Amino acid sequence: MKDLSMDVDALDAEAERILRMNDRGGYSVPTAGLYPYQWNWDSAFAAYGYAMFDLDRGWRELEVLMAGQWPDGMVPHIQFHKVDPSYFPGPDIWGGVGPVPSSGISQPAIAATMARLVYELDPHAGAERMRALYPKFIAWHRWFMDWRLDRDAVCLTHPWEAGRDNAPDWDGPLARIDPSGIAPYERRDTGHVDPSMRPKKADYDRYLWLVKQGHDCGWDQAHLREVNPFRMADPTMHFTLLRAHRDLMWLGEALGLDTSPLPDWIAQLEAGAETLWNARLGAYDCRDTVTGDWADAVSNAAFLCWYAGVDPKTTAQAYARVQSKVQFGVASHDPESPAFEPKRYWRGPTWAMMNMLIAMGLDDAGRPEGAELRASTARLIAGNGFAEYFDPLTGAPAGGKDFTWTAAIWLGWASPKARRGRWAA
Ligand code: DGY
Repeated sequence: MKDLSMDVDALDAEAERILRMNDRGGYSVPTAGLYPYQWNWDSAFAAYGYAMFDLDRGWRELEVLMAGQWPDGMVPHIQFHKVDPSYFPGPDIWGGVGPVPSSGISQPAIAATMARLVYELDPHAGAERMRALYPKFIAWHRWFMDWRLDRDAVCLTHPWEAGRDNAPDWDGPLARIDPSGIAPYERRDTGHVDPSMRPKKADYDRYLWLVKQGHDCGWDQAHLREVNPFRMADPTMHFTLLRAHRDLMWLGEALGLDTSPLPDWIAQLEAGAETLWNARLGAYDCRDTVTGDWADAVSNAAFLCWYAGVDPKTTAQAYARVQSKVQFGVASHDPESPAFEPKRYWRGPTWAMMNMLIAMGLDDAGRPEGAELRASTARLIAGNGFAEYFDPLTGAPAGGKDFTWTAAIWLGWASPKARRGRWAA
């Protein structure tokens, strides 16, 4: 294991260099080539990272993100500010209907939580900017409440909406989709990254089939709610939105703004969390709203319950079990499951930003595992670089390189010198 004390300044400088390199002027790309556009949750983490050395740039990232909001309140998962042929599927395939060419789905509601962290760095400097963003966040959160609930649990309607693209949680519902009829296409992701670290073709066919359903109806949510065969109630979507509601409420109170819808939304999602508890598994789980089936899988999303401030029930036992099987971070899928693949994207690898969210919750609950997770993520990045994700057994880097969110998470949380924000010594 490396002696971190020797490397911290160099790692901090490298993280800052990566953030500056991935800055496209007001918005950041996750990494050049593989993801050449603005992604929603990546951008939220990036805002926090930029704020570590340039507060104005941190706010700007959030402002550009929210400027892409659709008239119905949705904030898309990709904004195509400048067409780049290195990525597929581009704006023509999506047919987004917002002010900026975009995809037609959203992503986990991280932005209000990161906005709170940025605001807390300097409430005076952030007050006016947060005031301007606040109604946009309310409208986005309302969109989730209007269009994404099942038994008061938050759903995704496309694997890319949860960001956990190829998680085994989606294998069952995706297998029911017959993707015949989609136009021939050429993937670009496998030209950038080893295909063994990416989703398989069968997954991609179904991702594109689902995009076509939305494109063909102009992303009419009422229609899609009736016809979309993929609708999973999911701890990622649910716990991030619940936490984001709470952080927005805190911001609204701090700024003297109208918080009126938030207490009801919070109560609704607190109740809805119960419908994600899989008693047999002893963990929060994904529920297929079409069949009623559980995914029956312990994913890292289950460990966001503390972050959302809901009753963790027996989650600490599940956490201890899966943590005993890996060396670094939290595996995205149960290491004891036959579907576990330590290098294939969301089927096992550990992700720095998920580790930070999980640790935020553990810290809030006063549990010691949060500090351990921070130290293990720091060792992971210090020893293996700023990769997109990592093998949780060996720490080997995987996916894209020079990754924005890994750099941001290093600067704002994992670095032993993360001096500012809620982890300030
Ligand atoms: C991709 O293209 O792999 C993205 O995860 C979609 O959001």
